[in-house]
Amino acid sequence: MQATNISTGQNRLRRALDHASGDKRFKILEVHMKKHQFRQDALIEVLHKAQELFGYLEDDLLLFVAHKLKLPPSRVYGVATFYHFFNLKPQGEHTCVVCLGTACYVKGADKVMNALQDRLKIRPGETTPDGKVSLLTARCIGACGIAPAVTYDGHVAPKQTAEAALEKINQWK
Ligand code: FES
Repeated sequence: MQATNISTGQNRLRRALDHASGDKRFKILEVHMKKHQFRQDALIEVLHKAQELFGYLEDDLLLFVAHKLKLPPSRVYGVATFYHFFNLKPQGEHTCVVCLGTACYVKGADKVMNALQDRLKIRPGETTPDGKVSLLTARCIGACGIAPAVTYDGHVAPKQTAEAALEKINQWK
């Protein structure tokens, strides 16, 4: 069983490296890693660059980064999924990030999220089929004093209610 997992991982890595050979963006990313001397503690910086180049962090890209920085893929996945500013899926024209950290949650962020899911008919982490809106979640965006906070296209809005959030996304549709 373990041997199967290892060989699946190696196949995926081979596929990622094949993919990388024909895509200039991987070259640019590699130059960026080189600038950081392939240091493992530059992981977040490297993931930012990867997202800037590709728009989101797909599996092959994370494997590529893990391989180049000589880090276990689990570590790279862990960091990419922990921080709200990294996207693992393609993003829509607009992004709406609902903070579900404790301070926001106790002030009703779950109600805001439910209203958005109902209206957009997507789940957190998804993009509407027309590519207009991506709905994401964060754990804490450092704005606990104005909870519940929602980020619309990178702008943090304070004390959000379901009504306020729906009004905002209606402007995008
Ligand atoms: S918990 Fe939402 S900003 Fe801190």
